[in-house]
Amino acid sequence: MGMSGFTYRGGVLCADGLAVPDIAEDVGTPFYCYSANLMREAYLEFAAALDGLPAEICYAIKANDNQAVISLFAGLGAGADVVSEGELRRALAAGIPAARIVFSGVGKTSAEIAAALKAGCGQFNVESEAELDTLAELAASGGRPASVAIRVNPDVDAGTHHKISTGRAGDKFGIESDRVPEIYRRARDLPGIKPVGLAVHIGSQLTKLDPFRAAFEQLARMVSRLRRDGFAVERLDLGGGLGVVYRNEARPPLTDYAALVREIFAPLDVSLTFEPGRRLTAEAGILVSRVIRTKESGGRRFAIVDAAMNDLIRPTLYDAWHDIHPVREPDPHAETAPVDVVGPICETGDVMAAGRALPALQAGDLIAIRSAGAYGAVMSSAYNCRLPAPEVMVDSDRLAVIRPRICYTDLISADRVPDWVTGHRA
Ligand code: LLP
Repeated sequence: MGMSGFTYRGGVLCADGLAVPDIAEDVGTPFYCYSANLMREAYLEFAAALDGLPAEICYAIKANDNQAVISLFAGLGAGADVVSEGELRRALAAGIPAARIVFSGVGKTSAEIAAALKAGCGQFNVESEAELDTLAELAASGGRPASVAIRVNPDVDAGTHHKISTGRAGDKFGIESDRVPEIYRRARDLPGIKPVGLAVHIGSQLTKLDPFRAAFEQLARMVSRLRRDGFAVERLDLGGGLGVVYRNEARPPLTDYAALVREIFAPLDVSLTFEPGRRLTAEAGILVSRVIRTKESGGRRFAIVDAAMNDLIRPTLYDAWHDIHPVREPDPHAETAPVDVVGPICETGDVMAAGRALPALQAGDLIAIRSAGAYGAVMSSAYNCRLPAPEVMVDSDRLAVIRPRICYTDLISADRVPDWVTGHRA
């Protein structure tokens, strides 16, 4: 009771108060397992760091969109950052007030914008002039002005993986700094639009604070300039991006991040929005998998496991490192040897870990792939007609299946076969 997170007890890995092998027995492998306690702790740590600031936490739903996870953060007072109508609907269904939902994203369709306006979405982060025009048109015809933050592309390199860097000139995101004043003016003059401030998000899994500093200082200068020109700037959305531990990263302490934010923005008297995703969920989740068999070939040792790139694509897509822990606690003196932990998918890139030093694994052994609570299940697919891994949440000694494994019948019968393919009459 009251235990949080993933620790060995009595020789097995536990998730909060439950033994992982028992959960595996219940739900079968592979599966995602989230610790409600760790998620709460991460949220409360984030909120505590911002204490005293006029700040709002809008959980970035894209990191983990399970309804139970969103509801957990909603219960702690979170708003939401959404990037699609689907995420908007999830946020609303979890009871997050529309006024506390920020609609981000570079490609909002007219239908999505209309849905968000109808719901009463609290803020639109606009990423282009054309988007502003569409929003203005739809908002004016609906009779309710849309609160808009202009997303700035500050041309700052976040120093993270290329594919998740979003704030460099030439990245598809945001509006170039020198065009912002002109667009801000345009926003003020358009019917249906109420410009409330600026937004920035330079990337994800940042392990240093310097890029945040560079972007934030630029944002602060821009606020002063806009105010000098007579514009009201009431809100700043500082995005997400805080890194977590996958291997041995020095993740920036939230207190340091908050101190930086205070230093730069406290003098401006402006309300702040934060959009953390990964920091609230990544370390609170594991992907549990079972070794199907082992083999040696071409001078390499393979452990073929039942989780694959369709379940967790981060290693394949970003060459991401995820720590792997045997569920049965290894003898501290056990020898390790390099092994390729691979999935069953028919692609050479289906590798969870290459040449990883691990104690000997055998068929039937369970492993836990760590820091899988963010950008794990949300990025999964049914590739190779594999059933997406189910998700469970533990809370001390309680267990709930929060997204069950669907069955093959449902997966196959979701498709429709036209009679002109089969030659049968309808
Ligand atoms: N706000 C905006 C506008 C974003 O684009 C993102 C993430 C966030 C907030 C949340 O960022 P976080 O706090 O989670 O770093 N699939 C990739 C990560 C993609 C992040 C996309 N945007 C991965 O697995 O590393």
